[in-house]
Order: sequence, then structure tokens, then C-alpha cells
Amino acid sequence: MSAGPVTELTITGEVPLRGQIRLPGCKGISHRALVFAALAHGTSRITNLAPGDDVGRTCAALATLGVSVRNGDDDSAAIEIAGAGFDALREPEDVIDCGNSGTTLRLLVGLLAGRPHLSVLTGDASLRLRPMARVVRPLRALGALIDGAADAGRAPLTVRGGGLVGERVDLEVASGQVKTALVLAGLQAGGVTEIVEPAPSRDHTERMLVALGAPLERVDDRTLRVREGAPRAFELEVPGDPSSAAFFVVAAAIIPGSSIVIEGVSVNPGRVEYLDVLRAMGARIEVTISGEVLGEPVGAIAVEAAPLHGTEIFSREAIVDELPVLAVAAAFADGATEIRDAAELAVKESNRITTMHQELSRLGVAVEPRADGLVVWGGRPQGAAMTSHGDHRIAMAAAVAACGATGESTVGGWDAVAVSYPGFAEDLERLRGEG
Ligand code: S3P
Repeated sequence: MSAGPVTELTITGEVPLRGQIRLPGCKGISHRALVFAALAHGTSRITNLAPGDDVGRTCAALATLGVSVRNGDDDSAAIEIAGAGFDALREPEDVIDCGNSGTTLRLLVGLLAGRPHLSVLTGDASLRLRPMARVVRPLRALGALIDGAADAGRAPLTVRGGGLVGERVDLEVASGQVKTALVLAGLQAGGVTEIVEPAPSRDHTERMLVALGAPLERVDDRTLRVREGAPRAFELEVPGDPSSAAFFVVAAAIIPGSSIVIEGVSVNPGRVEYLDVLRAMGARIEVTISGEVLGEPVGAIAVEAAPLHGTEIFSREAIVDELPVLAVAAAFADGATEIRDAAELAVKESNRITTMHQELSRLGVAVEPRADGLVVWGGRPQGAAMTSHGDHRIAMAAAVAACGATGESTVGGWDAVAVSYPGFAEDLERLRGEG
């Protein structure tokens, strides 16, 4: 396996994965930890922060707002954030560029909706195509003045915040990002902000903020109540990313002779539902919970290869990020797998219905794209030249498919992994080298 200077990864398939691995920190928890630390009074210390450009964008944005974000003095690779509360955030002097990071953009719109400043937020070509009305409309309902491209349906967005008044807001989509944006606004609004989702979404924000003593109450699995206030400063070792784990879990499940243990990973139930899907397909997976950090269960995921069979996947928001690699598992399973109710796939970093259809087809897999998902007929995928479409999760899903396929494959546009997991190829190679 080699990643050349033209950012193409070459992989020879059918090598089993063996051994143990600890993963870089969870991206979702890392973004939130940085923002919450900035709002606390005092210095917070974060280790195992997610690497990659996405979380780097959140660090840089906070620095633009006047927050001190720096490396700790020791050699533990800790990041120290000197928070001084909402009022200490200053008006940004320049446009905030969120790159490819939807989480950075949506969280910041919510944060800045509460500040009496003018802020301008944008991102790369992919992010500027992604839907923003879902976050803009409920923030406008609290009193924020937000404008932008396509009546603020897309970035660039301008936010003139401050003077928010809490009320009940019904979100139009279940989204961890949108919910968190509304929580950040609600923490700055007068009165009570009640946030109601059409279905549950990932719950890192509420777990962490409750653990940090912020005035947030979980009414039920779709409803939060937030009052004015802030979290306390904290120390956190970010658990490994469960969505990154999914790539190794699927690789080990489909390649005969594999046996791996992923340690120190977040096993938040809303983030590991993909394990249940894989178990339903016949995968041999065991989860052992070893502790909890800021309300997040942490543990180990052990996987051994086993023959898989097709299934029906009714997607919920909670497993949308893992659907590309679940489609890869389906390509190696016996029979058909139908992914339904997953129209959100089309508005991620790429249109993942189209991009997974194209990449799996190159391996000779029969795939039918649908408006809300895919049908994949499993078989014996053959090595091929694939491409990332500039989407980190498509790049890593393609690499997993290449690991299971016969012969040699390439993944072009490999540099896309830099947004969430720059060391993925090296970690994969290490597990393949322990056979
Ligand atoms: C995220 C929520 C999900 C997920 C994204 C990260 C988060 O997006 O797909 O990768 O950290 O809250 P949506 O909020 O758009 O569903």
C-alpha cells in the first residue's frame, strides 16, 4: 500500500487485519469540546483532539473570536483553551472560513447568533452547496438577523446577533449540528429555549453540557430545554471516533482471517447503531464498556471476520455517516442490502448516493441508486481505480472496499482524508501488517 505524491492510494486486497488500535479523537466531541471550553470561565485542557482540517477550522475560528487556543507546555499534545465566557468573544475582523466543515459552520452560526456582532461565515465549494435554511430559520425565530446566499439557504452567511429571546423551536430535520447551534443560541437567550426535533439525533452536546453543569435539561429523546448560562471549564481525553472505527470494523468483518480490537473508543449508543446493522448481517462484534468521560461511554470494539448476508437498513440520522462503509459491507455480503430513508446522504460532503453508486460500480458491484438510498447486491468485488470525489468518508470507504477486493485498487483524491483522519492509511497498513 502506498500513497503517492498525486494523492493516490494503492492497495492490494485480501490481506487480513489483525491487532489492536486506538483511534484519533471523535470529531463531533472535539468540535463541541473546543466551543464549550471557549464559553467556560477558566482554562480547559483537551487531549486526543481529533486531527484534521475540520477541527482545525473550529480552533482557528475561535482564535479569530479572541479565544486563546494553544498547545500545552508539556509533551502530552494537550490543547489548552482559556475561556472567558460569551461576553469575551470579540467581533471577527475577517470572514470566518470553515473549509469543508459543516459542523464548524453550523455550530458557529448558533454561537454568533447570540453575540452583538457582525460575522461572515463561508466554506469551500462543497460546504457552500450544503443546506443552511435548517439552521437559519430557527435562529431567526429567536431573533438573530441572518442573511446569505439563496435567502440564507446557503453559505456565505452573515450573522448580526444579540438580543435573543428564548421560545419553542421545532427543527425541520433531526440534526446534531442544528440542535447544537440552537443550544449555543439558547445559552445566550433570555427565558427558556425549547428545542424539538422530528426524531432523535446524536446527543454529544446534551451529554457533555449536562456533565459540565450548563443549564440544559433533556425533556425526552427529542426535546431539550435550555436557559441562559455556560458550562464550567474541564479536562478531557477525547475518546476515539466511532465513525472512524466503522472503517476498520467493516474491513475486519469482510476480510477472512481478520481479528482486531479497537480500544478507547466512544461507544455512545447513538453513534454505534451501525454495529447492530453489521451484527444483523452476521458480523461477529463484541463491545466492552470500560468507563465514561463527560457523560460519554467509552470502551473497546472487538471484531472477527465472518460471512455476511444482506439486510434492510432503515437509516436514522444516527447512522448516516457510516452508510458509505455499510454499503461496502453489503458489497461483500450474500444477497441484497437495501438502504432506505437516507435522503440526507445526498447533502453530505458529496452526494453520497451518487458517489457510492459510482465507486462500487467500478468494482463490478451491482448497485441501484434511489432517491433515499441504495440497493447493493453483494458478490466478489474486483480491484479497480476509484476516486474520493473530494469526500473523506468516500475515500476511506473506497479504501476498505479495496482491502476486501481481489487484486490491486487505487483511490484517487486520497488527500480528502485530511479533513478528518490524515493518518488513516498508515493505521490501516499497521493492522494489515500484523498478520
Ligand atoms: C454531526 C452531525 C451529523 C453528522 C456530521 C457531524 C455533528 O450531521 O453527519 O458528520 O457533529 O453534530 P447532521 O447534523 O447534518 O445530521
